[in-house]
Amino acid sequence: MDFLELAKNRYSERRFSGERVNLQDVNRILEAGRQAPSCVNKQCTRVVVIDDDDELERLDSCTRFRFGAALSLCVCYDTHSEWEQRTLGGYGKVDTSIAMTQMMYEAESLGYGTLIVAGFDEERLRELLKLPDDILPVMLLMVGCRSEQSTPARLHFERMPLSETVSHGVYGNPW
Ligand SMILES: Cc1cc2nc3c(=O)[nH]c(=O)nc-3n(C[C@H](O)[C@H](O)[C@H](O)COP(=O)(O)O)c2cc1C
Repeated sequence: MDFLELAKNRYSERRFSGERVNLQDVNRILEAGRQAPSCVNKQCTRVVVIDDDDELERLDSCTRFRFGAALSLCVCYDTHSEWEQRTLGGYGKVDTSIAMTQMMYEAESLGYGTLIVAGFDEERLRELLKLPDDILPVMLLMVGCRSEQSTPARLHFERMPLSETVSHGVYGNPW
């Protein structure tokens, strides 16, 4: 499948089957994140793999958005390793988002459903994963097999037209 088709077919999965993600696939997903570009090649992204049943259950006390996924990747960055730009500030969240996106699309290309989750209790998550103070959790990436009830939510179909988001040459000049 070409990339645009993969991007168009992706949607947020909120009905996972609970079936395990095999280790070879987990490693492919992590490798896709490792290959991500990063600002000044700082590679500040850090990932915690959560695939143990008990730990996944404890994760449910940190977020209500697991939806039965058998794999959750906590995507963080090391605040001491991110590139600091003079006026725009740190690029940790940008680098982390790029790495997370590459992992998401690798998972999708392997046939899994995915869900990006920013809705979590940071303190509880820090405690569960024993995150040091300088490691900032940005997102959880839920990965798992889609269930038979899998279907995109209404918001998936609401995309602004390019005419509202893209300018040509100068801001506001329609593409
Ligand atoms: C940074 C980010 C955080 C998100 N956090 C959540 C979340 O906490 N819970 C959830 O159910 N969906 C979450 N989503 C999914 C969005 O709601 C979803 O991408 C959007 O509604 C478009 O739908 P689609 O992904 O099916 O195309 C998040 C998406 C992004 C990019």
